[in-house]
Amino acid sequence: MKPANLRCEFMTNPIGIDVTTPRLSWTVDSDVRGDFQVAYRILATSDGGEVLWDSEKVESSQTTHVEYGGPSLAPRARVYWRVACWDAKGVASDLDECSPAFFETGLLDESLWNAEWIGLRNAGSNDMFRPSPHLRRVFGIADPVASARLYITALGLYRVWINGQLVGDDLFTPGWTDYDVRVPYQTYDVTGHLVQGENCIGAVLGDGWYSGFVGGQRMRNRWGELPELRAQLEITLEGGENMFISTDDSWQGAFGPIVVSDLLMGEDYDARRQLGEWTTANYDDSAWSMARVLSGTNATLVGKRNEPVRKAIERVAVEMTEPVPGTYVFDLGQNMVGWARLSVTGEEGDQIRLRHAEMLNPDGTIYTENLREAACVDRYTLKGGGPETYEPSFTFHGFRYVEVTGLRGKPALECITGIVVHSDCEMTGSFECSHELINQLQRNIQWGQRGNFLEVPTDCPQRDERLGWMGDAQIFARTAAFNMDAAAFLTKWMIDVRDAQSPEGAFPNVAPKIKALGGHAGWEDALGLGAPGWGDAGVIVPWQMYLCYGDTRQLEEGFDSMLRWVNFVEQCSPGLLWTDVKGWNFGDWLSINADSPGEVLATQYFAYTTALVARIARLLGRDEAEELEDLGGRIREAFNKAYVSADGKIKGETQTIYVLALQFDLLPDELRILAFEHLIRDIESKEWHLSTGFLGVTHLLPVLSRFGRFDVAYRLLTNETYPSWLYPIRHGATTIWERWDGWTEEKGFQSPGMNSFNHYAYGSVGEWMYANVGGIDIYDERPGYEQILIKPVPGGGITSAKATYDSIKGKIECDWSLNDTGIVMKVSIPANTKATVMIPSTGPVTESGKDLSEADGVHSVVQGENVTAIEIGGGRYEFASTSTD
Ligand code: BGC
Repeated sequence: MKPANLRCEFMTNPIGIDVTTPRLSWTVDSDVRGDFQVAYRILATSDGGEVLWDSEKVESSQTTHVEYGGPSLAPRARVYWRVACWDAKGVASDLDECSPAFFETGLLDESLWNAEWIGLRNAGSNDMFRPSPHLRRVFGIADPVASARLYITALGLYRVWINGQLVGDDLFTPGWTDYDVRVPYQTYDVTGHLVQGENCIGAVLGDGWYSGFVGGQRMRNRWGELPELRAQLEITLEGGENMFISTDDSWQGAFGPIVVSDLLMGEDYDARRQLGEWTTANYDDSAWSMARVLSGTNATLVGKRNEPVRKAIERVAVEMTEPVPGTYVFDLGQNMVGWARLSVTGEEGDQIRLRHAEMLNPDGTIYTENLREAACVDRYTLKGGGPETYEPSFTFHGFRYVEVTGLRGKPALECITGIVVHSDCEMTGSFECSHELINQLQRNIQWGQRGNFLEVPTDCPQRDERLGWMGDAQIFARTAAFNMDAAAFLTKWMIDVRDAQSPEGAFPNVAPKIKALGGHAGWEDALGLGAPGWGDAGVIVPWQMYLCYGDTRQLEEGFDSMLRWVNFVEQCSPGLLWTDVKGWNFGDWLSINADSPGEVLATQYFAYTTALVARIARLLGRDEAEELEDLGGRIREAFNKAYVSADGKIKGETQTIYVLALQFDLLPDELRILAFEHLIRDIESKEWHLSTGFLGVTHLLPVLSRFGRFDVAYRLLTNETYPSWLYPIRHGATTIWERWDGWTEEKGFQSPGMNSFNHYAYGSVGEWMYANVGGIDIYDERPGYEQILIKPVPGGGITSAKATYDSIKGKIECDWSLNDTGIVMKVSIPANTKATVMIPSTGPVTESGKDLSEADGVHSVVQGENVTAIEIGGGRYEFASTSTD
């Protein structure tokens, strides 16, 4: 047995962390079936090899979230760590063979920042003319450099170079938080960027979320008016001496080619204004002015703790058309998020305009009505004299089509390349099956996640909104955690959520919190005071993270805020019915001709969330557990009394109302089946179509399968007629649409004010597909994949499926196919885990040709009527069943 995949706070070798008791995780590899880690040892050493912490042998199977146990961490401390593990036979791996992982702390202590906030005032700057400041400083280094770190952040966005070399490949740094509360900073190891002699550091700034447009209402400057930079370069020379180069009024500044840059509006770049080699030491900056020390912020600076946004994929255009003479439309074949790289040749002063869109009008021109106030236009002015390429720095668009105008002639397809960017969370899940449209659905779900996992989980990437809407995030969280390693990303976002909680205890609807400016109080209410199913994300997301990653710290850190939320909702619930919703109640947002009464939905969520907080309280051993359980029971009683009749009908009688009552276990036993039958009748009355909006959609198929109607679940999943998941796919969708009726054959485009073609919410069906078609699921009682549930249920005409998942415990696979006699199921689970495997079979089952009773690593065989249930330990298995039918 060997340890692998060493992580600290979910990241590989993070530097600049400010978690003072970081948690360490690893996986174990073993070729032996059923192998277990019986003990581990962690050895942590300093940069100089001195032992900081030796855990000694700890008899434990734990491989995740082991708290660092060394002496308290100083700022800038580099800690190397290795693990040895003992297998089931008590044999230890060689500690020296474990290649060391490391983590490094950031500045930790605010007083260690000695840099000023600087920028450049531009007298003419207004909404339309906001040139990006360039800031530089030249400095000499007398001796060879032993090591160097750059601690850097901005109010706004920055990119930084040292001696002409870009530092890092992170985009949209420092990231997005509520900048009034905390501002993230990056730490870069820049030892290799520096030379003995003259050096230059230079940074360019953009408005970003801080002072650009975001959140609708054609509003900008939500946090401040001008971007500001704060950077501290700390250099250790070989002689041991330290040097500091910090932002202050000795820096020089100039405006350059980025004439306007805005996340929503786009970028205007004039290549004639390029500044040359301005980040190198021998550049002539005599025309530059002095940078200004600006006001900065009182917010706390925090080490970045989630993956940065990075470039992920390049897409070559697949087609170009000319719907209007001189207007060229490039099709990238995929609705995506990022920008277009322009490659062009022309004359000095030629201006090329790129407009972005997700869809085309029937005449082949681009459809931009759904962008609302977001212009999504990039402009490039040529300097002339040869081929030029351009990519914007501080904007992103949600698009599939790029309209190019201003060219001198017909361009080649290579004129436009799509650059896809997203938060660089590792892809962890894959799913495919014999049904090609369902495979496209899975691809669309993943593309929706790529497009909306950009610093925070957003609703959409194209129109003038792009906010961290919490309802969307809570319904999609479980699917998200299958597709990508969302642990660090959501851990950081939950801090944004807690930062946004109101003094009365209301979680918000969007996080980071958005300030309404200029008297838009209604908008502030809409965003600020948690709606049923939106505010509840403050409880549901950490709970899902606990299930997916076994993370209890998330629950501990969030517990008090969860309690305050429950208290807040209780205040809004006379008679324990959440009838007095303070902000907006979005209800079952975007359902199809099936309005659920707001107070019924609200009370369902109140009951569910309270029950979850009670469960969390038990888990954490908190005194409040009993009181919360009691409260949960009383809410259920009030709910039943007010809204449920003796025949199992529930007020509203929509699919969503029934689904939530069943999924959240709100009904007494005797009414469940009756309520379930009402649900089925409703689906049938719609000719076997769904009508659920955001709140119902995630739980629809799970309820159908939980109560035994896999046939109906599959029928809905494979439906190709409107409204359904596959209807948009039959009409060429490459992402998940915001609305079931975003476009229909009958009516064309609908509701342009609210019609994104890249919203992940309805993609929350992914969790059901992984669990029931793919067959990989979480066992709630032993979360974090300590115990795994392998339980594919073939149906819907699907004859084979394969799902893989890189869990926090290692790789899980389930690969099944039906044949003439039954099913063949290849299953792989990581060492040090167990799985309950349910093999659909009416006859005997073998493992690698052997009877189950003789198969190595297979335990507790129970033969049911249509299923064989077994327990296995880590390893690869091949099961085959023969049907006796
Ligand atoms: C967003 C949604 C969000 C909703 C609240 C919309 O504008 O795009 O996804 O959850 O508002 O109802």
